[in-house]
Amino acid sequence: MTKKPSPGLVPSYVASLKSYVPGKPIEEVERELGLTAIKLASNENALGPSPKAIEALQRFLSRSHRYPDAAGTYLREKLSARHELGLEHIVLGNGSTELIQLLCHIYLEPGKTGLTSQGTFVMFPLGVRSAGGDVVQVPLKDLAYDLEALAARIDDSVRILYLANPNNPTGTLFTASEMDRFLGNVPENVLVVLDEAYCDYVQRPDYSRSLDYVRQGRYLIVLRTFSKVHGLAGLRIGYGLGHPEVVDALNKIRSPFNVSNLALVAAEAALDDAEHIRRSVESNRRGLQFLSRELPRLGLRCVPSFANFMYCESGRDAKEDFRALLKMGVIVRPMGFMGLPRGLRVTVGTEEENRKVVEALARLQESSSAAAVSRQRAGD
Ligand SMILES: Cc1ncc(COP(=O)(O)O)c(C=O)c1O
Repeated sequence: MTKKPSPGLVPSYVASLKSYVPGKPIEEVERELGLTAIKLASNENALGPSPKAIEALQRFLSRSHRYPDAAGTYLREKLSARHELGLEHIVLGNGSTELIQLLCHIYLEPGKTGLTSQGTFVMFPLGVRSAGGDVVQVPLKDLAYDLEALAARIDDSVRILYLANPNNPTGTLFTASEMDRFLGNVPENVLVVLDEAYCDYVQRPDYSRSLDYVRQGRYLIVLRTFSKVHGLAGLRIGYGLGHPEVVDALNKIRSPFNVSNLALVAAEAALDDAEHIRRSVESNRRGLQFLSRELPRLGLRCVPSFANFMYCESGRDAKEDFRALLKMGVIVRPMGFMGLPRGLRVTVGTEEENRKVVEALARLQESSSAAAVSRQRAGD
């Protein structure tokens, strides 16, 4: 077929976008390499979905012919009671990433800026660009957000400011008092998006007062998700807790049935599944402890993580490490696409998976130091 010239209707800022590349699916790796693999690449819950959510899904399947409640009333009521915030503060999304995208489209246009850090969740810069805005990313300091530098970078063009706490991919966090100080330097005409996808894993009393900001009427939205501690990443459901004007704008432009009825019932059940949350947090705590002890022993540079993954650097190009680990049946994530080409992100798995990834990394470190020795000898 001869290709007709394109009429050029796609705006250049969309045509030039690079699509999001997800973690490699386990089935694809197993098929390509003919081996059994473990996937520690997408920060999913190592223990699987909440069992209460599975029961609810099974009960609800026969009602799949019905459209969902477009307002997600039951779930929002539950979240309202849980977080002590009125319904006007709560909006549901097809994953919290949908809300990131929509916020960029509401607040940005060509000439306006979305501000964030380098080395942070890639969906924000992608969202800014897809809305035709300019992305400004301030360098990380010791692999953590540099809040002072971020505040100093705000100018009249900045409409939206995105912070992930803990940060993906480094797992670092900033404390409530650091955030208080920072917000004091952010003008009220900038929307602050505070992404707390991993908040349930944080076990520090000085962590976050994010919902107080919402209660106090600050122009801000906090994002949370059912994809992590609740184990429902495949169902796509997240939510925002924010200023009513922000919530209202999101409700106006989201698709009316953006969250499926299965996701709604599963999320309601998962929210009440205190036992699954407790087990997930505890298993993650032990896994993090193990990985943060073992990875530095292998000579990898790591930072303390407060999420369900560990960030580490071997000093080599992380893509090479990724490919070598893949051949050993271990799928992790090289972080070049988030601006950290030397970084590997390893999701905390089950005990057995954590042992396997450490063994694989140990083999990788040994073979690369053996290769370095033979290169040196060849050069002597
Ligand atoms: C910081 C951050 N926000 C949001 C998400 C995605 O959440 P969801 O699955 O709800 O879209 C992730 C997932 O990895 C994340 O790391």
